Amino acid sequence: MALGTTSSFFFVTFLFLFNLPPSLSQEQLTSFNISHSPWHPSQNRTLLSPDKNFTAGFFPLPNSPNLFTFSIWYSQIPKTANPLVWSTTTQVNSSGSLQITPKGELFLNGSPFQDAANASSTSNSTQLVLHDGGNLVFGNWTSFKNPTNTILPNQNFSTGIELRSSNGKFKFIKYQFLVLNSTDDQYYNTPNPLVGMDDQGKMTMSVNSFLTSDYGDPRFRKLVLDDDGNLRIYSFYPEQQNQWVEVWKGLWEMCKVKGKCGSNAICVPTDDLNISTYCVCPSGFSPNKGGAEEGCTRKILLSQHTHFVRLDYVNYTTDGTMNQITADNFTICESNCSTDKTCQGFQFKYDGTGYCVLLRGTELRYGFWSPGTEAALFVKVDQSESTGSNFIGMTEVMQTTCPVNISLPLPPKDSNTTARNIAIICTLFATELIAGVAFFWSFLKRYIKYRDMATTLGLELLPAGGPKRFTYAEIKAATNDFSNLIGKGGFGDVYKGELPDHRVVAVKCLKNVTGGDAEFWAEVTIIARMHHLNLVRLWGFCAEKGQRILVYEHIPGGSLDKYLFRVNSRNPKDQSGPRPVLDWSMRYRIALGVARAIAYLHEECLEWVLHCDIKPENILLGDDFCPKISDFGLAKLRKKEDMVTMSRRRGTPGYMAPEWITADPITSKADVYSFGMVLLELVSGIRNFEIQDSVVRSEEWYFPGWAFDKMFKEMRVEEILDGQIREAYDSRAHFDMVNRMVKTAMWCLQDRPELRPTMGKVAKLLEGTVEITEPKKPTVFFLGEE
Ligand SMILES: *[C@@H]1O[C@H](CO)[C@@H](O)[C@H](O)[C@H]1NC(C)=O
Ligand SMILES: *[C@@H]1O[C@H](CO)[C@@H](O)[C@H](O)[C@H]1NC(C)=O
Ligand SMILES: *[C@@H]1O[C@H](CO)[C@@H](O)[C@H](O)[C@H]1NC(C)=O
Ligand SMILES: *[C@@H]1O[C@H](CO)[C@@H](O)[C@H](O)[C@H]1NC(C)=O
Ligand SMILES: *[C@@H]1O[C@H](CO)[C@@H](O)[C@H](O)[C@H]1NC(C)=O
Ligand SMILES: *[C@@H]1O[C@H](CO)[C@@H](O)[C@H](O)[C@H]1NC(C)=O
Ligand SMILES: *[C@@H]1O[C@H](CO)[C@@H](O)[C@H](O)[C@H]1NC(C)=O
Ligand SMILES: *[C@@H]1O[C@H](CO)[C@@H](O)[C@H](O)[C@H]1NC(C)=O
Ligand SMILES: *[C@@H]1O[C@H](CO)[C@@H](O)[C@H](O)[C@H]1NC(C)=O
Ligand SMILES: *[C@@H]1O[C@H](CO)[C@@H](O)[C@H](O)[C@H]1NC(C)=O
Ligand SMILES: *[C@@H]1O[C@H](CO)[C@@H](O)[C@H](O)[C@H]1NC(C)=O
Ligand SMILES: *[C@@H]1O[C@H](CO)[C@@H](O)[C@H](O)[C@H]1NC(C)=O
Repeated sequence: MALGTTSSFFFVTFLFLFNLPPSLSQEQLTSFNISHSPWHPSQNRTLLSPDKNFTAGFFPLPNSPNLFTFSIWYSQIPKTANPLVWSTTTQVNSSGSLQITPKGELFLNGSPFQDAANASSTSNSTQLVLHDGGNLVFGNWTSFKNPTNTILPNQNFSTGIELRSSNGKFKFIKYQFLVLNSTDDQYYNTPNPLVGMDDQGKMTMSVNSFLTSDYGDPRFRKLVLDDDGNLRIYSFYPEQQNQWVEVWKGLWEMCKVKGKCGSNAICVPTDDLNISTYCVCPSGFSPNKGGAEEGCTRKILLSQHTHFVRLDYVNYTTDGTMNQITADNFTICESNCSTDKTCQGFQFKYDGTGYCVLLRGTELRYGFWSPGTEAALFVKVDQSESTGSNFIGMTEVMQTTCPVNISLPLPPKDSNTTARNIAIICTLFATELIAGVAFFWSFLKRYIKYRDMATTLGLELLPAGGPKRFTYAEIKAATNDFSNLIGKGGFGDVYKGELPDHRVVAVKCLKNVTGGDAEFWAEVTIIARMHHLNLVRLWGFCAEKGQRILVYEHIPGGSLDKYLFRVNSRNPKDQSGPRPVLDWSMRYRIALGVARAIAYLHEECLEWVLHCDIKPENILLGDDFCPKISDFGLAKLRKKEDMVTMSRRRGTPGYMAPEWITADPITSKADVYSFGMVLLELVSGIRNFEIQDSVVRSEEWYFPGWAFDKMFKEMRVEEILDGQIREAYDSRAHFDMVNRMVKTAMWCLQDRPELRPTMGKVAKLLEGTVEITEPKKPTVFFLGEE
């Protein structure tokens, strides 16, 4: 319906832009056969797919209008907006031709047409046809099985398909790996092999997950291996100036693409807006003729005596072998390299693990600077070389996961109910204190991380690859001098504003954030890398005059708790008026969206980001109640005092997994637990820690256990349902959905982390694509109810 409008809009735009008269000089074929042969670029002839979405024909090269490739393009996308999806490698001039011979061969300018020349053996199929979906077919040859740099919806990665960037430098192979064409050196892999994109724009992978953040809307889409070596998915947005909008990309740091710089050189990202890079030589090296892009050589050749220069946040590989060893201490790692003639340098981690990698070979390769590099690199230079390091700033290990917890002995087991309840209360109280201590501890550990990183590099403007850096003046203008306060959170005040390009933003002024500009930038870069439909987007930041400001997209709906907990509303002063009651299917969709976003944080971001604070306050509702998780990644920016007061005031031990107070490590399963609580709250509309005494007997105060009994033992589902929409509950229509939500919650709330499913599995349990087995009754970990 909406699609029809969109299509006709496209079409009108198309006519308007190109002012194509419905003239007779334009010949539109539905198939090209021997009777039309030959076909010249000058003929104004096109081959149209039956649905008219795709056109094939001679297409002029953008920079030389007298040269053509035989191409396929999106008919309705303006020629200025890069509509091409497939092209021949051969270029022809205006007197070139496409021919079908009487023998049934296809020739372009007298040479075989790609691999298709002999694809047809029977004369009845000697025609070139463009199918719906953009597949050009000649005999048994299809453009879908012979792609160039683009994959279209429904063009699946069937056997042997490889993509090659149009400049030939990069390849995407085995449905998973980006490699440098010249050396086959890999620099990126998708989490799982890609399978294909469907009509909805969902790019599925072979194992249980998918890419693309905007799937669902009908749009023109494509996956492209771009000339810069990155793999991206684009959607065409006619409503946004007729542009292809990037909705997913493989690499967030372009310096990780191999081959950006020559041997020994180090790739460094440049300015904010333009995702470009430049090359720098390490200390002791000078650029080759042609500059550092062409590589660097030693100023002084190595003699008997050498020493090492430390390059912080730099990562290299070599043309030889990389040996990872475990060194008891730094000295051992260093001496292993200095006694080895072929060792050009080594990487060492200061985290006590003894991580030591010796870089053996004749030269260093694929150097890049990244705030994500967890080790320092030590490059070997001659003793007489006296230059200091040009990459400094690392004083501590990069910590990218949740703050570590500390061990405490388990509380004694006690079968007496009263004592047990006292123990529970004490433990929960202790949790808050311990959380504070743990955060303080981690804060000490990582104090001043990247300070002065930029100084010696001469990067007055910090390098960036992602979020835009705003000036304080810009923020002030956007928020009309911070006049529209829309929220006061634990991290600081939030103001509504509008950017000059009319995007509405939520501007969060952080309080009491530690570290220097560079550290802040590094953290923000990591946060801004997270792209998902169900995550609030970070658009930029400001770090000026001691200010620490984050600029987010503005989510108009407010947070989930305001919709859920109206009966026990803790904030009667909320002026925003009555909010709609969420119906069952909305609740289900919210649960699913949140689960998918957390799964994305855990799985695609390689467990970089545990949220650590999942609760209804951090789930915002956008248009159509689309849930968006906020505040992910921020735990790392908090200052100690803030954390302590935060955990106090928050008073929500109810969302914290038991391992926060046991000796177990905090893993992604801690988020799974918190999510389980949110899931139960979605069903019940009650805060898990606000159940009134009158409702439950005291020894059954533990909400998940109580809900379990109601649902699975007493079979009285109604009693756990949100009173506001209990009436609307229709057991035939909703039982399956509610049952799935509650069962999934029960699995999430298991006290042993290893019994809880991963977040990816949780999403599948909710979707119903995986059978849910009967969960065990959740217990508080030390109650030991068998
Ligand atoms: C093709 O179209 C262009 C402009 O649309 C026109 O100038 C040219 O004469 C046409 N050529 C033929 C062979 O019809
Ligand atoms: C070529 O295609 C046209 C229709 O486009 C058809 O009328 C004609 O018979 C075909 N010729 C051959 C030789 O197949
Ligand atoms: C192609 O066009 C048809 C109707 O002409 C439309 O239904 C279909 O959705 C279009 N394809 C895409 C990807 O928009
Ligand atoms: C077009 O290219 C052919 C060879 O591919 C050449 O012989 C011919 O002179 C060229 N014509 C023009 C107009 O450049
Ligand atoms: C097609 O096949 C025939 C017979 O196998 C061969 O003679 C001819 O050269 C081939 N043509 C092309 C363009 O490969
Ligand atoms: C396509 O057909 C030709 C001739 O009929 C045959 O030689 C070739 O092996 C076929 N290719 C594929 C991929 O089936
Ligand atoms: C090719 O043409 C012959 C005779 O015209 C017909 O019997 C045969 O079925 C056709 N084959 C195909 C694949 O269309
Ligand atoms: C890509 O690699 C192939 C095989 O190694 C080589 O033949 C080709 O010339 C390379 N292309 C470019 C543009 O470097
Ligand atoms: C391609 O893959 C998508 C998603 O996996 C699937 O829906 C579609 O049917 C596949 N298309 C073909 C032609 O195999
Ligand atoms: C990036 O910078 C290059 C040159 O510095 C410029 O040509 C290009 O247009 C810029 N791209 C964007 C998206 O600003
Ligand atoms: C490093 O470890 C070695 C052997 O374990 C020891 O002899 C040496 O003293 C240590 N060096 C330092 C600086 O701790
Ligand atoms: C260096 O980069 C490689 C490739 O991106 C990566 O696998 C490795 O973990 C990095 N090393 C460090 C210490 O970050």
